[in-house]
Amino acid sequence: MAESFTPERVVVTGGAGFIGSNFVHWVMENQPGVHVTVLDALTYAGNLENLKGIPDDRMTFVHGDVCDTELVDRLLSENDACVHFAAESHNDNSIVDPAPFVRTNVQGTYTLLEAARKYDVRFHHISTDEVYGDLALDDPTRFTEETPYHPSSPYSSTKASSDMLVRAWTRTYGIRATISNCSNNYGPYQHIEKFIPRQITNILCGLSPKLYGDGLNVRDWIHTEDHSSAVWRILTCGRVGETYLIGADGEKNNIDVLRAILEGMGKEPDDFVWVRDRPGHDRRYAIDSSKLCHELGWKPKHIDFAQGLAATIRWYQDNEAWWSPLKKATEAKYAKQGQ
Ligand code: NAD
Ligand code: DAU
Repeated sequence: MAESFTPERVVVTGGAGFIGSNFVHWVMENQPGVHVTVLDALTYAGNLENLKGIPDDRMTFVHGDVCDTELVDRLLSENDACVHFAAESHNDNSIVDPAPFVRTNVQGTYTLLEAARKYDVRFHHISTDEVYGDLALDDPTRFTEETPYHPSSPYSSTKASSDMLVRAWTRTYGIRATISNCSNNYGPYQHIEKFIPRQITNILCGLSPKLYGDGLNVRDWIHTEDHSSAVWRILTCGRVGETYLIGADGEKNNIDVLRAILEGMGKEPDDFVWVRDRPGHDRRYAIDSSKLCHELGWKPKHIDFAQGLAATIRWYQDNEAWWSPLKKATEAKYAKQGQ
């Protein structure tokens, strides 16, 4: 049976990043009684602009590190829930330098769990479908909560490690925690190192979009607003100790997504270049979110990918000042990797 929990003061780690900031906006719009404290280290991926317009009486921003025990202790002692988004999140970066991934994703989660244990704070851990490894293109199955862990990249192995810590702290110490593993998000405020915004901003800059490998790798796309509503549903109605998979039946291969972007931006279907593949590149992800839908009654709102993609393209067209300062450094990093 699902339990009901009504948080009033929520710490959101990584709330200045892509999914975290979208979640904070979602809470502001949909949960008027809730106060949010964002804890974010403002790494290259964090941006205070993502939280612009949120009133001071609804949100406190704390610039700090999830590995800082004293700070984490203080914040969790003052709040009744924590939703943990903060992470190093990009696979390609983890291949070049895994060290910050181990620190933030593993040690950071450990630090938060210890504080959640000490102050009996309801904890929700944000994870990824990548912990399950990949599926073959012709495999009819999808990931479920029972799929064995089989991570491929430094990034996904650190996320898998953090999930294991949450499970162990729940079983051994009885902390009140849940985990969600979500598929690929798209939408506003996504860093331009990621696939969809990289290609949109390449086209806007007059650069060629870049496709890895044979372009047939499949990702299961979900709009970030649907991820937010699912996380809130799990935090408030989910069963403590459980894992829920979040997905919206959005499987697409990369070349089809790229061609949809090209078409939406008035380009020819072959206006892109092939680049070096990602080492260890996962072939396909696919989420079965039946447990979340049936047990907690969650439903995604953005089921028309073409419409969501068109709105995302417009967002990057309208917000050049947000992304253009990042473009040169992001592309220079990729160029060094032959990508
Ligand atoms: P992001 O890289 O856009 O944002 C990460 C945020 O965490 C940034 O604001 C950054 O400043 C902050 N951060 C990094 N290290 C920190 C530290 N040591 N202390 C405090 N803050 C720190 O990431 P995202 O794409 O928004 O992903 C958020 C979470 O969702 C991650 O846990 C990721 O694994 C998970 N996830 C992402 C996706 C996706 O498609 N992007 C899908 C499923 C799950
Ligand atoms: O599945 C959830 C995961 O989705 C999250 O856990 C990660 O944090 C998030 O970054 C994302 O991981 P991916 O590696 O799937 O996302 P990325 O945007 O890096 O790449 C998506 C696909 O596009 C992947 O198959 C690689 C390919 N790609 C990517 C880039 C940046 C290209 O073909 N060209 C590119 O330029």
